[in-house]
Amino acid sequence: MTVETLRWRNNQLEMIDQRCLPAIIQFLSYSDAQTVAEGIQQMVVRGAPAIGVAAAYGIALEAQKCATLPREKFAEQMVQAFDVLAASRPTAVNLFWALNRMRDRFSVSSTNDNVFVARLLLEEAHAIYHEDIETNKKMGAFGASILDDGMCILTHCNAGALATAGHGTALGVIRSAVAEGKKITVFADETRPFLQGARLTAWELSEDGIDTTLITDNMAGHFMKIGTIDAVIVGTDRVSANGDVANKIGTYMVAVLAKEHDIPFYVACPLSTIDLSISSGDDIPIEERSSNEVTGYRDVRWAPENVKVRNPSFDVTPARLITALITEQGIVHAPNEKKLKALF
Ligand code: MRU
Repeated sequence: MTVETLRWRNNQLEMIDQRCLPAIIQFLSYSDAQTVAEGIQQMVVRGAPAIGVAAAYGIALEAQKCATLPREKFAEQMVQAFDVLAASRPTAVNLFWALNRMRDRFSVSSTNDNVFVARLLLEEAHAIYHEDIETNKKMGAFGASILDDGMCILTHCNAGALATAGHGTALGVIRSAVAEGKKITVFADETRPFLQGARLTAWELSEDGIDTTLITDNMAGHFMKIGTIDAVIVGTDRVSANGDVANKIGTYMVAVLAKEHDIPFYVACPLSTIDLSISSGDDIPIEERSSNEVTGYRDVRWAPENVKVRNPSFDVTPARLITALITEQGIVHAPNEKKLKALF
């Protein structure tokens, strides 16, 4: 995969504009926390780990921008930066995980030298970026070990390089299996309404030469029933302590279908996505996005004016429907609270 999701260039963060993919490949530049938060909210960058990495850079950028201010004013600006980034999207816990890491780094730096603090924060953001790629490669290796040569995998949304700093979570497992010489084919759900499957998954896998077939979301049951699909692998935005999984809207439907057809349902899940502070999936905050995403696409509207619309961006799949979590520490079969706690 040659396309980068985020990169640090000339003391700025550059992010590929995922709203325009695959038609246009363009990078947008960011130099403070407010604009990074807007980039996250508007889906320039999306996918749980990528959002976390972007937020970490948002903090580093703000520190760099405000470094010449008096210490008290600097600290005030930084508090606002943490707040604005935390308010950008509610469901993916990686955002809060990354901000907590940056906050820890910020609070232990007791010096009055803002420039030094800004440097520490940038180092931490770089560390989060590089660790994410390493984590995905470890998950990829564990996940590849449970895939057989010749398997056809169903995916939902985009849990690929574009959803992370690189390699991907669910797509990282597929990439690693292919790198081991296994012939893996992919069926990619298009993922209404934002079309991450059609625009991003189908694109990044095809760029890598991985045999990919695009289907609409309502075709998944059909292809399971006629025996095309051997396993499902998805990513996740937040896993509660009991193993319930929040992921892109429609994931729950796919998990129910997989159970009905006795197809294994795997979730690629870095430890940074596990939220032990939330006991069950019922308490995971679910983002509700603009009705425009449902009533049409880009400039085209097909729904009648004034129609009532709901647009929850995520749903929760109960742990009982999950065959295993694939983590960087190994495979967790039939996840439950005891097994998740043991990972930490
Ligand atoms: O709304 P998005 O595009 O940010 O949603 C992304 C997903 O639901 C992904 O499946 C999830 O973040 C896992 S990405 C490794």
